This record gives sequence, structure tokens and C-alpha cells, in this order.
Amino acid sequence: MPPLNKDTILNVLKKIPYPGFSRDIVSFGLVKDISIGETTTTIQLELSTPDENVVNTLRQTVLTSLQGLAPDHEFELQIKRNTPITAPASTIIRGQQLPGVRHVIAVASGKGGVGKSTVAANLACALAATGAQVGLCDCDLYGPSLSLMFGTREYPRATEDNIILPVHQYGLRLLSLAFLTDPDQPAVLRGPMVTRYTQQFLLGADWSGCDYLVLDLPPGTGDIQLTIVQTVALAGAVIVTTPQEVALIDARKAIAMFGKVNVPILGLIENMSYFLCPDTGKQYYIFGRGGGASEARTLNVPLLAEIPLDIAAREAGDHGRPIVLSSPNNPVSQAFLRAAQKIRATLPVH
Ligand SMILES: Nc1ncnc2c1ncn2[C@@H]1O[C@H](COP(=O)(O)OP(=O)(O)O)[C@@H](O)[C@H]1O
Ligand SMILES: [Mg+2]
Repeated sequence: MPPLNKDTILNVLKKIPYPGFSRDIVSFGLVKDISIGETTTTIQLELSTPDENVVNTLRQTVLTSLQGLAPDHEFELQIKRNTPITAPASTIIRGQQLPGVRHVIAVASGKGGVGKSTVAANLACALAATGAQVGLCDCDLYGPSLSLMFGTREYPRATEDNIILPVHQYGLRLLSLAFLTDPDQPAVLRGPMVTRYTQQFLLGADWSGCDYLVLDLPPGTGDIQLTIVQTVALAGAVIVTTPQEVALIDARKAIAMFGKVNVPILGLIENMSYFLCPDTGKQYYIFGRGGGASEARTLNVPLLAEIPLDIAAREAGDHGRPIVLSSPNNPVSQAFLRAAQKIRATLPVH
């Protein structure tokens, strides 16, 4: 039986994966304190998840594993709850630099349905229009939409040593889970699979030669986003919101999350800013006016674009050719092209 000290306890805890992840609770930075007493040892964990199942599973696994280390000793587990993210920046493991990729940009939103994939797709096309080599990776494994937006269902090939080769379309390199699944079936993924796919798409694919790799993140500020941040070194994040307060609140949370893990915010993109009536040219502020601009001022981040609601933009996405490519002179495309110029100025390629 090994002696009971901090190291032997940590070694046991290092073998306990966070439920749904391959990474263990120690390297996730969740173990905050170990105090060893004569008869009782207290372990303190700090968890961000609102999911009671995760907490209960961890409680049980940790106690059972430690009891195996010293059956006659008493172990007490204190679980501190903290939302939405626990690990302070110092304990976060930063992601790795992808070989041959200049800048990895995450397109994120606090809330779903705000047009994140539309923004990711058009921003990627707009960056390519500046003359850069661009890759686009759909990390929203529960709602992959890039195959629809880029009108391809080509199956990605792999090299002999199992490196995934992104699909080429419109001069961009793409990967999406949608290329691998039946479009009529929902992607039924469990936590560990999400992590594995995400890591494979990012680390196991050939993105080399990309000036920009744009990631379409799943909405929200949970464990998947944290995994991505920890898998690959991000040059910055673009946050998508609509002008509505409900979306802005969640955008704020997303900005705070990236701040905690030291990822710079490249800026805010306000989508669905107004409806430009094609008949009269009048602007209708359907979701309220100026929400994105005032939020950007408050949070001291750049406002990269205000994208109007536009029928042609929706149709272009649905028909498999993003509007930046199908009608570059459309006001929506122009807004994306200006945003791409700003990003290129912040993250130069030459
Ligand atoms: N500016 C816009 N004008 C018109 N339709 C839009 C605009 N932005 C997004 N949409 C449409 O709204 C829907 C949701 O957008 P999507 O990009 O899939 O959002 P998310 O990825 O945030 O869930 C899509 O059908 C898309 O075509
Ligand atoms: Mg999406």
C-alpha cells in the first residue's frame, strides 16, 4: 500500500477523467486543495457544471478511488460550485499551435440561432477574398451546417497515416461533421465522442498552409468550448450577437469566458441588425437598434460589423454558396468584407 501523501493522492486523482472527457480532473485544474489529517483527509474540488449527474458521478468516483488507496482512512470531499467556468487562467492548459497555421480564429456566440455559422462561413470567404489561404472547421458537432452552406457533401479523405484531408470548396478548406453523417439524422454524440471528433478535426487534419483557420464553435460557454480553447492556441475570438438584450447577455458571458482563458476578443459582430426593405430601401430595426454598438463600447471591444437581415443572405446560405461569394456587392457581403479587412489588420499574414 503506498504511503498517504499529496503525491499518492494526486496520482489517484489524475486517473479520474472528468465525466464526458478524456482529460482528468487534476489537469483540468479542478482539485483546489488536499489537506491530510491523522484520521481524515479533505479534498476540495471546484466545479463549474450545473449538471448534478456530473457532480454525483465525480463524488462517487473520487471517494471510491481514494478509499482504495487507504481503506482505514476517512476521506471527505468538499465540492465548491462555481459558474460558469472554474479554472483560473493560471491553471488553464493552453492549446497547442497547429503546424503551418498562422492564426486560428474562433467564431462564438453565447446564444444559438444568432447567425454564428452564417458569420463564420461568410467571414471565412471574406478573409479568402483578401488573398489569404483559409480553412473553416465546423466545431458545432450538434448542429453542423457548413456542408449545407457550402453545397458539398464530399467525404473527406485521409492519408495513409490517417491525417484527415479537408474538403476543398470555393478555394477554402472545410471540415464538418455534416460531411460524415446522414443529413436527415441528428448527430447523436456523447461527451467523449464530441471531444474526440473535435480534437481529430483540429489536431488530426492537415490545415497546414492556412493563414486563417476559422472555427465555428457551438453556442454557449460550456465544457466543449473549454476543450477547444485547451486543444488549440487561438489567436482570437469573434463574438456574434443580435441586438436583443437576451443575446447580448449571453455574448457578454462568452466574452468573459474567453477573457478568463486569455484569448483576445477580436470584436463583436452584430447580426440581424436591421431589415433593409428591398422595395423602399427603408431600414427596420426588428430586434432593436444599437445594442451591439453600445455593448462593444461598454466592454471595450471593437464592433467589427453590423450585418443586416437580408433575404438574399439567407437564400445564399441555403443554396450552398455564401453571399460574400454569390453577391459580393450586397450590403451584407460588404459588411463582411470590411470586417475581414479589420481582422487582417489585427492579425496580419505577411
Ligand atoms: N443576416 C442574415 N440575414 C438573413 N438570414 C440570416 C442572417 N443571418 C443568419 N440568417 C439565417 O438564420 C438562420 C440561423 O443562422 P445560423 O447561421 O445557422 O445560426 P447559428 O449558427 O447561430 O445557429 C439560418 O437559416 C440563416 O440563413
Ligand atoms: Mg450554427
